[in-house]
Amino acid sequence: ETDPAPSIDPFKLVAADIAPLSSQVADGLKASDPVLTSSAQHFFGSGRTREGKRVRPVIVLLMGNATAARDASEEELDAAFERQQRLAAITEMIHTASLIHDDVLDAADTRRGGSAVHRMYSNKAAVLSGDFLLARASIALAKLGHTQVTQEMAKSLEALVQGEIMQLKSTAEERLSLEYYLTKSYCKTASLMAFSCKSSALLSGYDIKDSVTVAAEKFGYHFGLAFQIIDDLLDFTADADTLGKPGLQDMALGLSTAPVLYAAEERPELKEIIARKFGGEGDVLRAFNLVLDSEGLARTKQLAMFHSQAAVDACCSLPPSECRDGLIRLCHIVLSRSS
Ligand code: FPP
Ligand code: MG
Ligand code: MG
Repeated sequence: ETDPAPSIDPFKLVAADIAPLSSQVADGLKASDPVLTSSAQHFFGSGRTREGKRVRPVIVLLMGNATAARDASEEELDAAFERQQRLAAITEMIHTASLIHDDVLDAADTRRGGSAVHRMYSNKAAVLSGDFLLARASIALAKLGHTQVTQEMAKSLEALVQGEIMQLKSTAEERLSLEYYLTKSYCKTASLMAFSCKSSALLSGYDIKDSVTVAAEKFGYHFGLAFQIIDDLLDFTADADTLGKPGLQDMALGLSTAPVLYAAEERPELKEIIARKFGGEGDVLRAFNLVLDSEGLARTKQLAMFHSQAAVDACCSLPPSECRDGLIRLCHIVLSRSS
């Protein structure tokens, strides 16, 4: 795999467009109740760590630029990009809502190096602030006035819920299946990226069946899978400080991800441990050591590389541009990220 544009910083390409996102969203989250306002604003306040990497808005805006219509006037381009900026904010609001709810479901104490919303306030406040963010995102989506975009983004909401359900309720057989793991990963992570990239192309004026729209969705799909697979790898390899959340969490939550699934092909004794959701005494540590003693981590990296390359290939169906190269660069960055 070669990196055609190692000098491009994709985050810098849209930095000026991302900068006002937090304060704009925070302004739009004023509610009559002060706890609702501050809990919903938690990840849109000041401070870089709380904001996270803003990966989703970055890819939406890069995709917006990369799909900008060649024959459009300056005014038309500005109008399209303005709507793509709103789409970027909507995408981040949906993502943030899902994280706030996710930390309730996972009983996680920390997020992005700080307190999870339900730990700062309460479970009830966290559930409601996630709902509230979704409500405000829905209004903003409706205001975009693009029926297909509304529909695509709504599909991603359903997929996010579906992914959580798949994770919550799985049979022993499903927990041993790499296919089940990948479908779940698509639902919980890649779907929002795929549908928002597709929506960005739609807002550039492309038809839903146009090859550019299809390539945009394909990029989000494969980039999202690579992103989640690396996330699952980091749960095994990174320490809690760099992650901003404790490591080896997945197995502690009973979840089998790519490293342990691959390892189980070499070490059948892992299958029983996976089936019982790492619930026996010492299971997590035992499984961890078996993974380290297998090709599990290396094969997981290869799986992520495969999807990263597929995302690069999707970009190659887009017309050449600096932002397209920024998207390609992101496919490389995603493989080397450490948090
Ligand atoms: C993080 O996964 C969780 C998600 C990306 C999606 C969570 C989705 C829901 C809770 C469904 C509800 C959806 C909405 C829109 C409110 P993780 O727990 O594996 O990652 P983590 O380590 O970052 O917690
Ligand atoms: Mg979680
Ligand atoms: Mg979760």
